[in-house]
Amino acid sequence: MGGYILAIDQGTTSTRAIVFDETQKVVGVGQKEFKQHFPKSGWVEHDAEEIWQTVVLTVTQAMEKARIVASDVAAIGITNQRETVVVWDRQTGKPIHNAIVWQDRRTAAFCDKLKKNGLEKTFAKKTGLLLDPYFSGTKLHWLLSNVKGAQARAAKGELCFGTIDTFLIWRLTGGESFATDATNASRTLMYNIVDNAWDDELLEILRIPRAMLPEVKDCAADFGVTDPSLFGAAIPILGVAGDQQAATIGQACFEPGMLKSTYGTGCFALLNTGKDIVRSKNRLLTTIAYRLDGKTTYALEGSIFVAGAAVQWLRDGLKVIKAAPDTGALAESADPSQEVYLVPAFTGLGAPHWDPDARGAIYGMTRNTGPAEFARAALESVCYQTRDLLDAMHRDWRSNGKDTVLRVDGGMVASDWTMQRLADLLDAPVDRPVILETTALGVAWLAGSRAGVWPTRQEFAKSWARDRRFEPKMDGATRKVKLKGWRSAVKRTLVAA
Ligand code: G3P
Repeated sequence: MGGYILAIDQGTTSTRAIVFDETQKVVGVGQKEFKQHFPKSGWVEHDAEEIWQTVVLTVTQAMEKARIVASDVAAIGITNQRETVVVWDRQTGKPIHNAIVWQDRRTAAFCDKLKKNGLEKTFAKKTGLLLDPYFSGTKLHWLLSNVKGAQARAAKGELCFGTIDTFLIWRLTGGESFATDATNASRTLMYNIVDNAWDDELLEILRIPRAMLPEVKDCAADFGVTDPSLFGAAIPILGVAGDQQAATIGQACFEPGMLKSTYGTGCFALLNTGKDIVRSKNRLLTTIAYRLDGKTTYALEGSIFVAGAAVQWLRDGLKVIKAAPDTGALAESADPSQEVYLVPAFTGLGAPHWDPDARGAIYGMTRNTGPAEFARAALESVCYQTRDLLDAMHRDWRSNGKDTVLRVDGGMVASDWTMQRLADLLDAPVDRPVILETTALGVAWLAGSRAGVWPTRQEFAKSWARDRRFEPKMDGATRKVKLKGWRSAVKRTLVAA
């Protein structure tokens, strides 16, 4: 057996497979986008079968690029878009419906009903989450209630539920392993993060039979071995974490007070709070950052649904840019005297507002407003939203007077202009690491350290290296005016207020 580690990063719009060598260097990458299904307004689905095919394809591609074979791989790590729900037949392994994606809003009315029945407190206390369609539980309830015969079949143990990690583990191991990890479980609205167990009371409220739930393991654990007929040899799966938690690990945010923000489709900021379960008074989530050797580390999370997706909208919707990397230069050319604000509530607003019915809006346009001002407004909207999250975090949890430095990763952070604007609007330094593949790196570390071929947590943390620190440069008065304009724009957009 060789010492390579293979990370599978199953994201919202594409699947990536990345091969790392023993020195943690990327030596092979495979990537494939897949189709997004929008059957109704606010609904988002994926074909789980297509996702599975992209996994097999990208793993094969990545190994070919790295010029290795399956027997050279010491372990696989799986990281994934979180909350997305798959239900499949235990006998055939076939999904009974398209996967319902985390962005999908179809259960907004059901969430409202639960709230009206006074249940939000119960869910929040046990799961650290809020009653928003974002999380898996109400989506699973919808599937069982709307697919003919599903509720009864689930009760008989004929159906399996999984987030994407579980579905992939099942498929990769030829149906031998039915498991998830604590971070993915903590996003389902069914998992008690205090007791670290599926919660019977919540399962009853949502009418979810326990028989369909996977076993919950540590993030670095034995998740089974791949069916040798897939890649030519059996490879152990030794690491699993939801993508935002994997990025937290990849950014080596192992100490309480350390904070990262990942800019993918959405933006997710996680603050490590150590062994403390910090209850947010500002509508942030309490979640599991990782569970290692049976010890749980918690985090406060701020989730924004649209970050890179706003840039995609500029490219595919408005067609004002050809490629995403053009956005920074266009934004830089915007007229500084125009205060244009975009509130990208395309799929509602996440933290700290949690308004599923809000929709996107743009304010402050004049006859002179053009593509450059739109580009700047889109990039700034991501910075303003990050500022809202960090303000809420500071109110919830004080880092012993230590200054917060935000570690950033994800596609958008390649833009110097955006990162400088982020530091300016946060009025805090922003650190961009040398390795931007932090999500894959995090899960590779889980698998690699478990396999004994990667360094310990301390050594891994020491190897984190900064590419560049962005210090705030904007004058206070300008920042104040801009933040005021943003807050007023959000206020005008909220439906639930
Ligand atoms: O909670 C949703 C998140 O895990 C999705 O991440 O990177 O696929 O946008 P991403």
